[in-house]
Amino acid sequence: MSKPILFSGIQPTGNLHIGNYLGAVKNWVTLQNSGEYDCFFSVVDYHSLTGNMTAEERREQITRTVIELLAAGIDPEKSTLFVQSHVPEHTELAWIFNSLTPMAELERMTQYKDKSTQQAKNINAGLFTYPVLQVADVLLYHGTHVPVGEDQVQHIELVRDVARWFNNRYGNYFPETEVLLTHIPRVKSLLEPTKKMSKSKGQGHVIELADEPESIANKLKKAVTASEGEEGSPGVANLLLLLKEFGSAGDYTKFSAAEKEGSIRYGDLKQVLAESIATYFADFRKKRAALLQDNTTVTAIMESGAKKAGDVAKETMDRVRKMVGVR
Ligand code: TRP
Repeated sequence: MSKPILFSGIQPTGNLHIGNYLGAVKNWVTLQNSGEYDCFFSVVDYHSLTGNMTAEERREQITRTVIELLAAGIDPEKSTLFVQSHVPEHTELAWIFNSLTPMAELERMTQYKDKSTQQAKNINAGLFTYPVLQVADVLLYHGTHVPVGEDQVQHIELVRDVARWFNNRYGNYFPETEVLLTHIPRVKSLLEPTKKMSKSKGQGHVIELADEPESIANKLKKAVTASEGEEGSPGVANLLLLLKEFGSAGDYTKFSAAEKEGSIRYGDLKQVLAESIATYFADFRKKRAALLQDNTTVTAIMESGAKKAGDVAKETMDRVRKMVGVR
């Protein structure tokens, strides 16, 4: 029996941080290991062309992201892990979908509006049609399940719309895709705990999966809390959330109770949290370091992923070209 097909993508935005991890990668590994899906995971490098990265940065970050996904538990024996641009059919299908998608639908996209504000000097057409490339990513593999966080739900609704527009116009071919909405703990910046954890603010704001224990401890020391006794601080809530995710249940219960009582000592919380995070990612750091030294293995994994994905993509495009009448 064939399994439902799961697809998800991540931009090659450099070292993964604990926000990316809890927001996507951790869940991907769980879904992969459930054995219930035929999983495709892609490092979406063409999507990253819509941003401001340089070519050198991009080149380095694509491979680094692959390495970090492997180190975090994506298993190329179980899943198809590949780099989007290694399968050129993504952009070909995106063109066909561009020609089916009304401008007005893309104008509604909140990520487009947000990014246009963030990079007001670089509002390129790719930024506008970004969701269409995302639709192509999923439908190229007949993806039926897409695990994403809330911010991507609108884009996955577009996947369903485009599939329907295509099916109505050219014949029934694409499935109805579902969102696997993951409950995502909202990890905040260490230094500005009312904002989402993001690298664009600077290194002190994030904890990267690759951070060494001393670095984790130093960053946490500087994390914003509240003056002792003050209630409802977003910084403290963030640290407790991280302790819940990465620490022992006992520590979490102890520190949350102390927080409620007003007897919490932030220095202790930070120390326990730093140790918990460092331990949680010890295996990740080891695997990552080994893969960084082993270009041959990483290249072979990327090639075999591209081949597996490419075989499926070719079949889809053969069919689509005929359906739209260019063959
Ligand atoms: N746009 C997604 C993000 O910013 C990344 C992405 C690209 C994606 N293609 C995808 C996610 C396909 C799910 C499915 O996070």
